[in-house]
Amino acid sequence: MTLTLTRPSLIRADNFINGHWQNSVQRQVYPVQNPATADTFAQVADSSAEDAKLATDAAFAAFESWRNLPAKVRSNYLVRWHELIIENRHDLATIMSFEQGKPLAESLAEVNYGAAYVDWFAGEALRTYGDILPHTVADKKLMVVKEPVGVVAAITPWNFPLAMIARKLAPALAAGCTILAKPAEDTPLTALALVALAEEAGIPKGVMNIVTCSRNNVADLVGSWLSDSRVRKVTFTGSTAVGKMLAREAAGTLKRLSLELGGNAPFIVFEDADLDAAVEGLIAAKFRNGGQTCVCPNRIYVHDTCYEAFAEKLVARVANLKVGPWDHQDSQIGPMINDKAVSKITRHVADALAKGATLLTGGQALQNDIATGPYYFAPTVLGNANHDMELAHDETFGPVAPLFRFHQEEEVIQAANDTPYGLAGYFYSQDINRVWRVSHKMQTGIVGINEGAIASETAPFGGVKESGYGREGSHYGLDDYLDTKYLCQGNLS
Ligand code: SIN
Repeated sequence: MTLTLTRPSLIRADNFINGHWQNSVQRQVYPVQNPATADTFAQVADSSAEDAKLATDAAFAAFESWRNLPAKVRSNYLVRWHELIIENRHDLATIMSFEQGKPLAESLAEVNYGAAYVDWFAGEALRTYGDILPHTVADKKLMVVKEPVGVVAAITPWNFPLAMIARKLAPALAAGCTILAKPAEDTPLTALALVALAEEAGIPKGVMNIVTCSRNNVADLVGSWLSDSRVRKVTFTGSTAVGKMLAREAAGTLKRLSLELGGNAPFIVFEDADLDAAVEGLIAAKFRNGGQTCVCPNRIYVHDTCYEAFAEKLVARVANLKVGPWDHQDSQIGPMINDKAVSKITRHVADALAKGATLLTGGQALQNDIATGPYYFAPTVLGNANHDMELAHDETFGPVAPLFRFHQEEEVIQAANDTPYGLAGYFYSQDINRVWRVSHKMQTGIVGINEGAIASETAPFGGVKESGYGREGSHYGLDDYLDTKYLCQGNLS
């Protein structure tokens, strides 16, 4: 498998700091793996706190001039960046599939999804409105203006190597913030290519800086940003454990935080659901990206009266999902990201089976005529799941759909909410009263009602409880990068 691009210059291995591509200060590199084969195919900069500080110096120096640009000028940079992303979408998708494993069609869809945030925030840059407040005293005028928070550190995950960084960088730039970015260790190349296109769009030097590092250096590199009072915000997508650590460390300089963390999403199929629609919604939500998403259903609750019918329809669909490498036209599920991911999925399935689950399809690591690498896992459906199982409490982050049987609406709401997490929840029902009642009771930041595909640049993405805080996308997503300043003018005649 070779990485062949129309524009090979989009493959970058260095950090981008203050407008220059440069190796890490200590001249170290680390290997990047192709999950389809487990082979190393690239080496990128393994940076440390020294590189992080250089990036901070650059972003801090660039902030005043970037924030002072007319909003229209910042917007135009985003417009140009968006055009370049679309023009280069095939190359970006190829890089993404190569380092992340998802089928090419999914990578192409992700490029469009990420680009949509850039396009959206090019528009939102023009709408950072303030307020004139009604005065209560004759000689005063009270106003509110919105200002960029300052230097923003964006730390992004491997499951959506382009969309997650785009939806942090685009609002930050639109608001007038400058950026420090650190992509996930497993998938740095997509983010580097995206930044190369930002450079090509003419975004001034110092405004966008990106540094890469291996797992060994993350604490050192990110620690530099967390302790630096010039960094005013951290935006992170990843695990709840890391999110809590960031919150603790960022407290020292009271940085703003946006945290998009773990999910453990419930998916409820009521007795009045359209079962075919529910199966299709579940396939879309659960098996997208091989189940490696924060919003994918982790617990599927099915009413007793339609449990068998639903399970049968679901198994028929899941058993036919084609597992294979990104570059095979039939592939619908790619490899998992690495061996740790496969071990966790295997452990969850074994634990569930030991505690009484029934295996309806799949259930193990897989190899077939096209999927020959070590990280493939068969799309799996488990019946008779219960809350003693590990997978009821911990995201499996893989293609495993456990079915839980329920009898009463109250019982299932209680079970769905019985988790520290609250990112997304889904339910299927054709009863309009139930739709409103259940939507109200779901303790999640996002609710899919008779719908499995919930993500959109026009909507606020984010969670409640230990799934974090802050919103990405929509006009709410811009607010996360703006401070509110109150101006009080007195002694007016
Ligand atoms: C995530 O898994 O963190 C994001 C998924 C999405 O944007 O749909």
